[in-house]
Amino acid sequence: MATVNDNYLKLKAGYLFPEIARRVNLFVEANPDAKVIRLGIGDVTEPLPEACRSAMVAAVEDMGDRNTFKGYGPEQGYGWLREKIAAHDFQARGCDIDASEIFISDGSKCDCGNILDIFGDDNVIAVTDPVYPVYVDTNVMAGHTGDINEKGEYEGFIYLPVTAENNFTAEIPTEKVDLIYLCFPNNPTGATATKEHLTAWVNYARANGSIIFFDAAYEAYITDPSLPHSIYEIEGAKECAIEFRSFSKNAGFTGTRCALTVVPKNLTGKAKDGSNVELWKLWNRRQSTKFNGVSYIVQRGAEAVYSEEGQSQIKALISFYLENAIIIREKLTEAGLAVYGGVNAPYVWVKTPAGLTSWDFFDKLLQTCNVVGTPGSGFGAAGEGYFRISAFNSRENVNEAMRRILDKFK
Ligand code: MLT
Repeated sequence: MATVNDNYLKLKAGYLFPEIARRVNLFVEANPDAKVIRLGIGDVTEPLPEACRSAMVAAVEDMGDRNTFKGYGPEQGYGWLREKIAAHDFQARGCDIDASEIFISDGSKCDCGNILDIFGDDNVIAVTDPVYPVYVDTNVMAGHTGDINEKGEYEGFIYLPVTAENNFTAEIPTEKVDLIYLCFPNNPTGATATKEHLTAWVNYARANGSIIFFDAAYEAYITDPSLPHSIYEIEGAKECAIEFRSFSKNAGFTGTRCALTVVPKNLTGKAKDGSNVELWKLWNRRQSTKFNGVSYIVQRGAEAVYSEEGQSQIKALISFYLENAIIIREKLTEAGLAVYGGVNAPYVWVKTPAGLTSWDFFDKLLQTCNVVGTPGSGFGAAGEGYFRISAFNSRENVNEAMRRILDKFK
């Protein structure tokens, strides 16, 4: 009989968000009249920017004409999109990133998992705790960890706790780590990283030959001009970092799917024979073999983000969600809860009221307010006692959810 990948059996039963959906569905079945407001998964709710829609409609027309029809595109993405990203997102911020170092993909989540294809199985891996579960689960699937303990930690990972006590800033490890996952603005805590903090990581990575996986999916939410948007704003980062970005949270592409990964050409890893190998070449090989690129229509939609109208429309979208975050922060504070994040980030990280675990608070909010959030413990052991509220929703739903919470908790 065919055997299975036993590493999957080490995983916690369900991926966090489907598990929340399962519990909410049970609640809705039992309470069909409840008007449930979902502030759990960070999925956008507002329509795609008009500039993106028009560009996609025009691209559909291109596909209807033999002269402009497109078959397979380049696996790395169309040059016109990569050039715009390089110029606007990187070069304009002083980052020396070339279009050829940008790989267009169908999502940061996919790329964060797929990137492991080009790394060895013997790397020491560090993650912050709490952390976006994809970083952990994909390593478990790849067999990079041992079993899970009763606290929810997998043997073999180096966990770097981030809590209110350390201002949600991980301490740079004292031991040698090969791969480090960083996410700023952070999912789930909403914390941001200063230039000094990222510089400390880059210096550590260069001194230890480590690679940083920098997830910048929420960079568009940074309004504080002193905060870096890209790790490549830090000197030396091109020698030690891969960056993941997405059109999901800035332009509402969660259902449309478009993202990018930057693999600098001079970044290397070690082969078993001790030689240095360019990671760009391996990633290019991997993508050309396992991926056929993002559709032409979607890439045209993403390109429109960089037009004048596109820029003003995505700014409006981001401001809208950031205003939701401010409302959430204010109302939860009024309700007597300690809140973090939600400034320069679309997630508000809440301390659960005394005596309540993250899942207790989840149940309480669901049952008494019919509001769904995400239990902090779902993001890691150090997330226990915290709860994440997403600012991705309509203003009406955010106001109503906050009204219900204030009613019950104040
Ligand atoms: C989240 O809620 O953490 C996000 O939906 C993550 C993601 O974009 O996959």
